[in-house]
Amino acid sequence: MRVKGKRALVTGAGHGIGEAIALKLAQEGAYVFVTDIDEDRVRQVASQINSGGGEARHVKLDVTLAEDWTAVSSDCEGLDILVHNAGIEMLHPFEEIDIENWRRTQQVNVEGVLIGTKALLPALRKVGQTRASGASIVIMSSVMAMVGVPGQAAYNTSKGALRQMAKAMAIEFAANGWNIRVNSIHPGLIDTPMSDEIFDVWSKTGVMGTDDVEEIKTAMAASHPLGRMGKPEDIAYGALYLASDEASFMTGSELVIDGGWIAQ
Ligand SMILES: NC(=O)c1ccc[n+]([C@@H]2O[C@H](COP(=O)([O-])OP(=O)(O)OC[C@H]3O[C@@H](n4cnc5c(N)ncnc54)[C@H](O)[C@@H]3O)[C@@H](O)[C@H]2O)c1
Repeated sequence: MRVKGKRALVTGAGHGIGEAIALKLAQEGAYVFVTDIDEDRVRQVASQINSGGGEARHVKLDVTLAEDWTAVSSDCEGLDILVHNAGIEMLHPFEEIDIENWRRTQQVNVEGVLIGTKALLPALRKVGQTRASGASIVIMSSVMAMVGVPGQAAYNTSKGALRQMAKAMAIEFAANGWNIRVNSIHPGLIDTPMSDEIFDVWSKTGVMGTDDVEEIKTAMAASHPLGRMGKPEDIAYGALYLASDEASFMTGSELVIDGGWIAQ
């Protein structure tokens, strides 16, 4: 019960990492707004939480739409935890990057965090003023904020922006005395629908020297010092920590969870 009595909102909670974070926060005692652009999925995730004895509510929320954020903000009184997890990946060689795809990547991955945080700041600031433990914002960046990878310039750029945006927010909010902590998480390769899509593209383009998805998966697992890809739950534990009072002295920090991949 590491976040008992807290209220949390998770974006992109219909699949993969976001789903695991919503489940973990609920399991540890938080009331969770389970949000995603995919309403059917969040309905299922919220109902799984509620039927398991937790407390959750599903909300259809496209992180790029200001009106969706405004709508959800009216229910977010007392919000302690905001997890900006929604994100998309675009795989294009640099010369083939289409400006619309580039803009969409930045819009979902970066702009969504800006407009979402602005919409929920009044609620988070109130919590910061009234509860000693304050509020916590967790931003899902990536190891792709720290290293470049061929074919991922749009995504690399967006995740690098998030890494720095978290620090800028952390320092400004602290200077304002708002008692809102902001930290970023940097997952390595995690087994989710997003990584399945990446393997699918790699198998079709042959960049990994094979069209066999299982062979690609095995090679990627072996490229991690710990010899495996990550599981969504590996990241959920990191988000839980940053969201909880255990991380009350952490802000502007970056938590790498990658099986040792960028330490090599
Ligand atoms: N899987 C990885 O290897 C990996 C590694 C590093 C970082 N990440 C990051 O972790 C986050 C989650 O990734 P994942 O692997 O679980 O991805 P995923 O594709 O499995 O899930 C992403 C979720 O975001 C939702 N989503 C997409 N666009 C949205 C929008 N406009 N508004 C609201 N929701 C939207 C999708 O419906 C989906 O439920 C992303 O920010 C991703 O960039 C993933």
